[in-house]
Amino acid sequence: MSAEFQSLEILVDNQAADGLMAEHGLSVLIKAGGKSVLFDAGQKDALEQNTKALGVNLTKIDAFALSHGHYDHTGAVDFVLQENPEVSVYAHPKIFSRRFSIYPNKDAKEISMPAEERLVVANLLDSQLHWVREPTQILKGVWMTGPIPRFQPLEDTGGPFFTDADGRDPDPIEDDMAMWIETEKGLLVVCGCCHSGLTNTLDHIVAVSGRKRIWGIVGGLHLKNASEQRLGITVNMLRVYEPEFIVPCHCTGGAAIAYFKDHLNTEIQPGYAGYRLEPNAVF
Ligand SMILES: [Fe+2]
Ligand SMILES: [Fe+2]
Repeated sequence: MSAEFQSLEILVDNQAADGLMAEHGLSVLIKAGGKSVLFDAGQKDALEQNTKALGVNLTKIDAFALSHGHYDHTGAVDFVLQENPEVSVYAHPKIFSRRFSIYPNKDAKEISMPAEERLVVANLLDSQLHWVREPTQILKGVWMTGPIPRFQPLEDTGGPFFTDADGRDPDPIEDDMAMWIETEKGLLVVCGCCHSGLTNTLDHIVAVSGRKRIWGIVGGLHLKNASEQRLGITVNMLRVYEPEFIVPCHCTGGAAIAYFKDHLNTEIQPGYAGYRLEPNAVF
């Protein structure tokens, strides 16, 4: 059953249109069938600043979904729940995991969901907090993937991610989820960081949605550390699914965006806070 897709608006991204705040993070507002869902909350201040600048009223949203428990997607959870204390929240329980990035010769950096945001979510009533452990329709025609199986051996989480500060326990980021929206033109796929890998994510969405046609892909694709071999298989898979457009943003990485432009006929339009997609968009 298709939702009547109305719009997608990037509220927080590493890049921003004039007059908006850029921040390493992501937040996207999707409207479909007269309802709306906020996907992620950015790192901290950009969501509040940009919603004010754009005239977006978070008190009206119907659902609030979290792609995974990294600080740059969950830092303004408290702000969203202050604006809209009764909004339905969707996430995987592993969003609460402690996690670290550890680059060679650098100290471990904690990249967990901030403690105060974890507390706000943990204190929600069961009737408001929906743990997503499988593909779940959160609004008519708007779905969260649930955890994404990792079948493609060339895809990894995209960084030196661990669940401990000593770097002994790799973090599979199993809470990573994407979203898809059923539209008349095909599926619109929205990724947070895509730590499961883009081919794994698209394969999963096509398998569980029962739909083969992908209209477009928007979001962070976390390919900044990807090998040319991995970029190659990603491009091969994109040629199979033939999305009309890709709006890579946040953590995708400039080299991956350039590779896509060089190797695909698909329209590649890098995203930014203030980017807006409507159903009649032509690519
Ligand atoms: Fe991210
Ligand atoms: Fe992430």
